Amino acid sequence: MSDLPIIETNNLVKKYGEHLALDDVTLSIRPGATGLLGPNGAGKSTLIKTVLGLISLTSGGGKVLGHDIATEGQFIRQRIGYMPEYDCLNPDMEAVHQVRYAGELLGMHPTSATQRAHETMEYVGLLDQRYRTVGTFSTGMEQATKLACALVHDPDLLICDEPTNGLDSKARGFMLDTLFQVVKQGGRSILMSSHLMDDVEHICDRIVMIHKGQVIAQGRIEDLKAIDREIEISVWGGASRLEQKLKDDGHNVRRTGRVMRITRQDESTYVQILAAAAATSVQIRKMEDYEPSLEDLFLVIMDRLGYAVKSSADLLSTPTPSMDAAAFQGGRPNE
Ligand SMILES: Nc1ncnc2c1ncn2[C@@H]1O[C@H](COP(=O)(O)OP(=O)(O)OP(=O)(O)O)[C@@H](O)[C@H]1O
Ligand SMILES: [Mg+2]
Repeated sequence: MSDLPIIETNNLVKKYGEHLALDDVTLSIRPGATGLLGPNGAGKSTLIKTVLGLISLTSGGGKVLGHDIATEGQFIRQRIGYMPEYDCLNPDMEAVHQVRYAGELLGMHPTSATQRAHETMEYVGLLDQRYRTVGTFSTGMEQATKLACALVHDPDLLICDEPTNGLDSKARGFMLDTLFQVVKQGGRSILMSSHLMDDVEHICDRIVMIHKGQVIAQGRIEDLKAIDREIEISVWGGASRLEQKLKDDGHNVRRTGRVMRITRQDESTYVQILAAAAATSVQIRKMEDYEPSLEDLFLVIMDRLGYAVKSSADLLSTPTPSMDAAAFQGGRPNE
């Protein structure tokens, strides 16, 4: 697999009337699995529709698989699989014919579209249900059919907009496993939007994080996590005392009950924590390097940008006002 970017945008701006939905978005997405993260209204779907050439740009530009998003949208859409967030299926059509029809719309010969429709229905776990009309399907089966429509022409790149939306945990697990297979066994690339950190962490090794139409982080998850290494300690008693001392000493502390995470500045941070514990007569029961999740990374990034959020769920319905436009790029804060 070439390592050239599969999606690139330069200073992309999209306005809906006066509303700025994408604000100077410059991206470079490499082959593999990339999560497009951001709270409700961040601009994920707008970005996807823009790179697919489905909606016009206000300014800026970009390329997908080397093709111009402003002028070669139709060609791009034939080369990639798109699973939209909205309901795009005909409820009166049998599922397998819906998938075949999607293939024909993408320019496939009817015979190969039919054959591939059966194969992809099997791939998404719906072989036995394929002659049912879509209107009789559960949300999970509908999403799986949408995925089959996106895969029918065997695209190199799959773009999924909130693929697990509305799914119960079993259907969600199946969808994530199937997408994982597309990447790991099929060797295809995926750009998957989600506001669920766990879903993205399950499949992707890179992320693009957007908020209020701006890119606030992009790069390998591992590199981004390395921005802020933390040391986790558990204490027996006097947690408030030690927390205060560490803060007075200039440390960044996140505390939940008896467990505290202190930003690791360098090797000396361990000794400084022990000294602060001795000075406050607090017993440390456990001290270890903390392995951050994507959720932790999100919180650290939002914190650095001046957003007071306790979990990514806080941002799902009420976006917090921006205080700082600084962005993280490729694992390094761009201050
Ligand atoms: N067709 C439209 N006309 C006007 N405003 C729009 C339109 N589509 C989206 N918007 C606005 O642009 C912003 C970005 O919307 P978008 O749908 O791209 O966000 P999103 O990150 O996909 O959100 P969600 O997680 O809810 O799917 C939002 O403020 C939204 O209200
Ligand atoms: Mg959306």
